[in-house]
Amino acid sequence: METDHFMNRQDSAGSPTVLLGISGGIAAYKTPQLVRLLVQSGMDVQCVLTRSATHFVTPLVLATLSGNPVYEDMWAVRDRPSVEHIAVADRADVAVIAPATANVIGKLAAGIADDLLTTVFTAVICPVLLCPAMNVNMYRNPIVQANLEKLRSVGFHVLDPDAGFLACGWEGEGRMPDPEVIAEGVSHLLAPRDLVGERILVTAGPTEEPLDPVRFITNRSSGKMGVAVADRAAARGATVTLVAGPLKVVPPARVRHVPVRTAREMYDRVIEYFPDVDVVVKAAAVADFRPALEKTGKMKKDEVGSSIELLKNPDIVKQLGETKRKDQIVVGFAAETHDARAHGTAKLREKHLDMLVLNDVSKPGAGFDYDTNIVTFLHRSGEEEDFGVLPKERVADLILDRVLRLRKQAIDT
Ligand code: CTP
Repeated sequence: METDHFMNRQDSAGSPTVLLGISGGIAAYKTPQLVRLLVQSGMDVQCVLTRSATHFVTPLVLATLSGNPVYEDMWAVRDRPSVEHIAVADRADVAVIAPATANVIGKLAAGIADDLLTTVFTAVICPVLLCPAMNVNMYRNPIVQANLEKLRSVGFHVLDPDAGFLACGWEGEGRMPDPEVIAEGVSHLLAPRDLVGERILVTAGPTEEPLDPVRFITNRSSGKMGVAVADRAAARGATVTLVAGPLKVVPPARVRHVPVRTAREMYDRVIEYFPDVDVVVKAAAVADFRPALEKTGKMKKDEVGSSIELLKNPDIVKQLGETKRKDQIVVGFAAETHDARAHGTAKLREKHLDMLVLNDVSKPGAGFDYDTNIVTFLHRSGEEEDFGVLPKERVADLILDRVLRLRKQAIDT
């Protein structure tokens, strides 16, 4: 069953707070309607405007509809502490900028925070939805597109503009989607707070096994899947520790990130933290072998010879499966290229896992470097769940939904 994120969150923790940033584009005139829709669906809306946005929509309208004061000037509120902009950012469960002008997009991509809106949005750690709206030629400008790509790569969500007649007289993409569409996008990003109190350890990324100071053995893992699990678990209220090998993606700000390099370092940290966690999701692609000798100086060609002696690394997840308490849940991953089901089923059993996430990395859209994955969940009961191509974030939520169910069963028995 699909989880209704917004309803779940309301049930467990009252009204979620939405931070609505409004920048100076003509589409700002649609934002009172957006505020009404968000308020009607039970959200607490906090508006932050740029100075130019006030030419298109008045703060009074937004304050009246949201029932909250509107922030527009970094220095206007003299009776509040100067860290108010951080408090505004911290309170948000989800944030949206509608419309997001080329200027604001450019500033956020460059890390410029020279007014209240860009300062607040540089400080937010919740999911952010950007709704670009501008003239079609501005939107197609390669610099604007590169800025959007950069923001996407660090986790911003972008709602593509609609195509149609634009206020500037041109026709093409650049029109801000209707407030109903934006409101729906906002509630999708809002996570349920169903993991509050859970302590979750996630491992991610590859490990590196050094041969000498400049060479190492590794694999193609980017860490995206594990990072998505850590991010969604934190968004849903869990206390998350992310033990990760060298990542190709930025670890989420709201998790405790413990960087490691080798499989043995990962083993040490995971075994250390294991007694104090409820759940382990072992998404890391741990190197199975390490060079028997790590040279302190760079090896010369002649020294290498025709073979490298390897030693087996400890199987971290297997040890967790064998030693776990009844109330602990351990989820493993298996990336396979052939006979995926048979290998996955064997790993589930041999490593004493509660669930195994199987992905066939030979399929396009699955595995390394992709933002999507194609997974099958293998359960101890023999039940299997197959999914089509899904964003890794969605896969992460599906895993966490199962984890929650397994935890409830484990606690009840
Ligand atoms: N794993 C682990 N420690 C290792 C190797 C793997 O904890 N030394 C974990 C991975 O994090 C993953 C699961 O075991 O959750 C399966 O990893 P995978 O590499 O697919 O399995 P292996 O047991 O290494 O089998 P093989 O490489 O032969 O397919």
